[in-house]
Amino acid sequence: MATGQGFPDAPPLDDVRFAASWVDPPVVVVAVDGGEVVGAYLKPNFPGRAAHIANAGYMVAEAARGRGVGRELVEHSIFRAPAEGFDAIMFNLVFESNPARALYERLGWRRIGEVPRGVDDEPAIIYWRDVWP
Ligand SMILES: CC(C)(COP(=O)(O)OP(=O)(O)OC[C@H]1O[C@@H](n2cnc3c(N)ncnc32)[C@H](O)[C@@H]1OP(=O)(O)O)[C@@H](O)C(=O)NCCC(=O)NCCS
Repeated sequence: MATGQGFPDAPPLDDVRFAASWVDPPVVVVAVDGGEVVGAYLKPNFPGRAAHIANAGYMVAEAARGRGVGRELVEHSIFRAPAEGFDAIMFNLVFESNPARALYERLGWRRIGEVPRGVDDEPAIIYWRDVWP
């Protein structure tokens, strides 16, 4: 954030696009660990009658990675989503090279599709998981 990079937005990040991703969604979870910021959002992935399917995103500051915080954030989404009326969580475009894929697959997400040129000519994977208790 400090350097104008963003997730899931491409840099340069501005306040309006930051807010759209990290302030406006119905559920935003943020924690600060020794000055390092981590967060997750949960929001409808579609309008109307498909709004029961959530979309989620996760961000752990580089210095705080590799200590299980990301896994905690993902597990929290699985726990929280039904209370918000969602029955599934879907990830739309996960870079084929993103190490987060292994985390999602271990936590029960099914690969339901692939977009051949998803982001910058890199294939991207679509994941879906039921979260109804
Ligand atoms: C994805 C992200 C949230 C993971 O956060 P984290 O706190 O490092 O995750 P954890 O420490 O809980 O690790 C989760 C799992 O992924 C693995 N993992 C994490 N980073 C990894 C890496 N760089 N290479 C390989 N494996 C990795 C861990 O081994 C762990 O597996 P385990 O739970 O079976 O032990 C973090 O890397 C991030 O913010 N990335 C940039 C934004 C992003 O890509 N978000 C997801 C987009 S779909």
